[in-house]
Amino acid sequence: MTQLSAAQTKSSDGSKALYGGKGTRRITVRDIAAAKERGEKWPMLTAYDSMTASVFDEAGIPVMLVGDSAGNCHLGYETTVPVTLDEMTMLSAAVVRGTQRALIVGDLPFGSYQEGPVQALRSATRLVKEAGVGAVKLEGGERSHRQIELLVESGIPVMAHIGLTPQSVNAMGYRVQGRGEEAAAQLLRDAKAVQDAGAFAVVLELVPAELAAEVTRVLHIPTVGIGAGAETDAQVLVWTDMMGLTGGRMPKFVKQYAQLRQVMGDAAKAFAEDVVGGTFPQDEHSVH
Ligand code: KIV
Repeated sequence: MTQLSAAQTKSSDGSKALYGGKGTRRITVRDIAAAKERGEKWPMLTAYDSMTASVFDEAGIPVMLVGDSAGNCHLGYETTVPVTLDEMTMLSAAVVRGTQRALIVGDLPFGSYQEGPVQALRSATRLVKEAGVGAVKLEGGERSHRQIELLVESGIPVMAHIGLTPQSVNAMGYRVQGRGEEAAAQLLRDAKAVQDAGAFAVVLELVPAELAAEVTRVLHIPTVGIGAGAETDAQVLVWTDMMGLTGGRMPKFVKQYAQLRQVMGDAAKAFAEDVVGGTFPQDEHSVH
């Protein structure tokens, strides 16, 4: 893809660019399609609560994913597998309430769409009606195309997710996907299947950069990369990873833009020491 400068991606009234645009209404999937036509790259972050989402909205992040990564990053589970639709509905509603401009994409958790299109529609309808999301995401390529078709026919925009699909961790582990001729051919088939089914975008997780670039060239819908190299139309990161809040080792594809774990730990210790040492509160923090 040709890389355009921020100024070049803006329309003549300066209001259309997804990041850096001035519009105050919610971004829609039509805006996302227009960005692909303009060759504009865009950022997506996960969010799981209202306050964090409001910070990202004010920073101009145009698309937020209420990912089921909330399982590991917010709810204290080991994987995304135990996350329930009730939990995703509650978290998605909070993120919608905290934002005004971003398109909010709610993740369908494991077990809420695998039975078939009707179950997927019932689950997605909850996220749209009860939480107010503008789109939903689900995992799987060819295997999920019937679910995507029915949701799209029913008026629910769908972001697909192929490559590494963490809900299948028990079957596939956390390994790079699409390596080797046959696996690459399958990934291309998956990408085309979700596009043909009507998905408005597709996440490519942990696939070789060259393959992700090829998928991005072949598709007319945007690709959203995570561990998929520099050529995808958009990039997504899990917010607690990129802000340095998640503990432990980070995957190679994560760039950390802050060290919140250190900052918050230091602040908590400073507060504790003030309390134990009797230096907080001072008169200025007291009412008389
Ligand atoms: O759940 C999630 O946060 C995701 C992203 C990693 C794409 O699926």
